[in-house]
Amino acid sequence: MLIHTIEEVREQIKNWKKQGLSIGLVPTMGALHDGHLSLIKKSVEKCDKTVVSVFVNPIQFGPSEDFDKYPRTLEADEKLCSDAGVDIIFAPSPKEMYGEGHLLSNDFLTYVIPPFFYVNKLCGKSRVGHFDGVCTVVNKLFNIVQPDFAFFGEKDRQQLIILKKMVKDLNIPVTIIPCPIVREESGLALSSRNKYLDENSKKDALALNKILFNIKLCYDKGITDVRALSETAYSFLNSNHSLEYLEFRDKDTLEDKEKADDDTIVFIAVKVGGVRLIDNIALG
Ligand code: PAJ
Repeated sequence: MLIHTIEEVREQIKNWKKQGLSIGLVPTMGALHDGHLSLIKKSVEKCDKTVVSVFVNPIQFGPSEDFDKYPRTLEADEKLCSDAGVDIIFAPSPKEMYGEGHLLSNDFLTYVIPPFFYVNKLCGKSRVGHFDGVCTVVNKLFNIVQPDFAFFGEKDRQQLIILKKMVKDLNIPVTIIPCPIVREESGLALSSRNKYLDENSKKDALALNKILFNIKLCYDKGITDVRALSETAYSFLNSNHSLEYLEFRDKDTLEDKEKADDDTIVFIAVKVGGVRLIDNIALG
């Protein structure tokens, strides 16, 4: 069932709650692919009812980012969801979520700001305000849907860690279920932004997962020196790549690691032919 308004979602949720049914939420920005589908399948399996939100959230995009050209494929998304057994696709308009606008009026003024220590690094460094927008919209979705479980991909691991912290700090009554990264056979992590890649860039995009899997291989052979591990990346990069970061951080706190260990996540962001791609791997 495709629903566009908060009121209609609330009505449906109220009925389900009365019947004691468990509710799973999968927040997305649409242009659904098999990565999203893996979250949806988990929710359908685990919960009595599943809500998938499809909302390209304007407040998590910077002024020079791809909000306008972000792929919007609601019809295909709807089909994929109903085939997967989703009960509600919630696709609100920006006006439904933020009234006349977060910039133009007083309709929307309250933000959830995650801790500075979690956002002053990795993607938060180049995407200033991004995680404020993510935490705010996810908080709103939690309040609208009141799910028992919410499903997030490890593909956006910094986002997942920040949202876990938000749920804990604000005592939000939802259990976050992390879901593993879904990759193409080539190793490329699925992403809605892969649609921006031309054929050559798609080949170059493989560098991200090659770098990460090679670092994991070296770690498994006993190399723990972060500098030595980082240096292995350069043989995979060419002039079509612009490396934004390659960092070794703690899986829960995002603290910097000087020596790699089993609690380490390796994070990478690279612009490939102008398209910004991210990936990560757990060494443990
Ligand atoms: P979006 O990029 O559409 O991703 C929705 C969810 O799908 C996120 O939890 C993301 O981590 C997960 N996902 C994407 N690609 C994946 C892959 N290859 N394997 C596993 N999971 C994958 O993330 C967002 O939207 C937004 O920031 C949102 C949380 C919806 C807030 O607006």
